[in-house]
Amino acid sequence: MSEEVRRAAEILRRGGLVGFPTETVYGLGADASSKDAVARLYAAKRRPADHPVIVHFADAKAAFKWARDVPEGAQKLAAAFWPGPLTMILKRSPQAGDFVTGGQDTIGLRVPAHPVARELLKAFGGGIAAPSANRFGQVSPTTAMHVKQDLGTDVELVLDGGPSEVGIESAIVDLSGEVPVLLRPGRISRPELEKALGTLVQEKRADSPRHSGGLERHYAPKTPARLVPPHELDREIARLKDKVAVLAFSRPDERVEYWLRLPREPLGYAQKLYAALRELDEAGCESILIETPPDAPEWAGVRDRLMRATS
Ligand code: TXA
Ligand code: MG
Repeated sequence: MSEEVRRAAEILRRGGLVGFPTETVYGLGADASSKDAVARLYAAKRRPADHPVIVHFADAKAAFKWARDVPEGAQKLAAAFWPGPLTMILKRSPQAGDFVTGGQDTIGLRVPAHPVARELLKAFGGGIAAPSANRFGQVSPTTAMHVKQDLGTDVELVLDGGPSEVGIESAIVDLSGEVPVLLRPGRISRPELEKALGTLVQEKRADSPRHSGGLERHYAPKTPARLVPPHELDREIARLKDKVAVLAFSRPDERVEYWLRLPREPLGYAQKLYAALRELDEAGCESILIETPPDAPEWAGVRDRLMRATS
């Protein structure tokens, strides 16, 4: 085990905060059993105290100790997708303090796959509460540098595990009710979840449990951004007066100040999305135009983040 990871586990043990890589985005970690540590975490995120955080574990066995009821569906999803980019919402056990659940009776559990995250979880030995390591409402970090830029001295140590491979946050499935509900789409698609469960998974409804990823505007750059359907992009560009930054599938247009191109393929697009939004935000333009990706299940995670970034 590396010296840095040992130090990070030490910081967590004394109630401090550590930035660490996961395969989805970078997390800001705190000891999930410590009320003080979690309070420090909320303060650094500038996150309201009634918003729950996800708790990370080294394996499913450790994770499920924090749930008082582990339905068969949870076992199936764990077998299919853990370690990996999936969070499950289950009814919480007495192990899980209400300070990590935002006062709710349920808990978000995840077993990440990134080797550095796994090493840290093993070294620490307990649950690590970790929201994305950005300030509340802003674009999630996918590199160690993003974390340092966002949180500065509020985080004692940031473990560098390279750019996040998935690039958007984990899919969140609520298994605490009668039927499974997809609260936040991610790399793992609804059809894949349904296949592993052998049952249908509902799309989030308005009365689903509160979660900050469910707020309208979120994952958002500071520059006003909007989505433009592919067939309208050319017309929009033709009538531009301001300096704009464009995120598109096609090749650069010389009438546009700043142009970024992403692959027409959902995994590659997701991987680069947040770094692209940061770059476009820093381009010094009046607005950002984003070419709308296809309306297909494998694009659901990307489309969800883009809706929020532009709402
Ligand atoms: O990929 C990820 O999930 C990353 C990495 C670091 O693991 N974490 C992440 O955490 O995105 P955060 O806090 O930025 O988003 C977690 C989402 C929030 O929308 C939160 O409200 C929701 O999960 N959540 C957590 N516990 C919940 C619960 N008991 N019920 C409903 N939603 C919950
Ligand atoms: Mg977040």
